[in-house]
Amino acid sequence: MTQDELKRLVGQAAADYVKQHVPEGSVIGVGTGSTANCFIDAIAADRARYRGAVSSSEASTERLRGHGIEVFDLNQIDSLPVYVDGADEINALGHMVKGGGGALTREKIVASVAMTFVCVVDASKRVPVLGLFPLPVEVIPMAQASVARALTAMGGTPQARVRADGSPYVTDNGCTILDVRGLQILDPVAFETSVNQIPGVVTVGLFAQRGADLCLMGTTAGVEMTDYRN
Ligand code: 5RP
Repeated sequence: MTQDELKRLVGQAAADYVKQHVPEGSVIGVGTGSTANCFIDAIAADRARYRGAVSSSEASTERLRGHGIEVFDLNQIDSLPVYVDGADEINALGHMVKGGGGALTREKIVASVAMTFVCVVDASKRVPVLGLFPLPVEVIPMAQASVARALTAMGGTPQARVRADGSPYVTDNGCTILDVRGLQILDPVAFETSVNQIPGVVTVGLFAQRGADLCLMGTTAGVEMTDYRN
């Protein structure tokens, strides 16, 4: 199977999981990226079952609305039964690196109000140690250089993200992103705290303190489910 086929497989598996475990009339949390897109496409057939969704990016909002799914502002919602999103890397404890698509801040916010975080990935995202994928750090633009120096002192090699035309990448929140290479994140919970404490950091794309509760991983042998709550 190709990587795209594996993504479609887990997108459908997540839609089936949500249908089975989330009460009718619920508002569900929806992530960002190509795998999250497969989930959005897979719930479209069942859209009448849900009151709507809270989205983690403008891109996902557009896709949800394109399927006729109502998108709510998070401020209108007290809690979400589930949040479904992809990841760039996931380890054996359900800690993740996220933000390859630039939506890390809204993803972390929406995930924080969800009862269950369901991570949907293909098998290429499974790693023993986080850090091979460059760690995204969203920063307030005036602090980009000072945050980069602090991240260098922590052993990384930060580089400002740019668009294909060479212009600075700007997030949905009007901030910039440093992608940090050269890390071996042996204690993800502690590292998340350390990066969070650098003045000017909006969000680090390390999701360890609130990691995944479940992972649906697309493999050539089918969908593998891991429950980290056990
Ligand atoms: C976006 C993300 C994505 O979930 C992550 O980049 C994985 O994307 P994809 O499913 O396209 O591989 O964190 O900010």
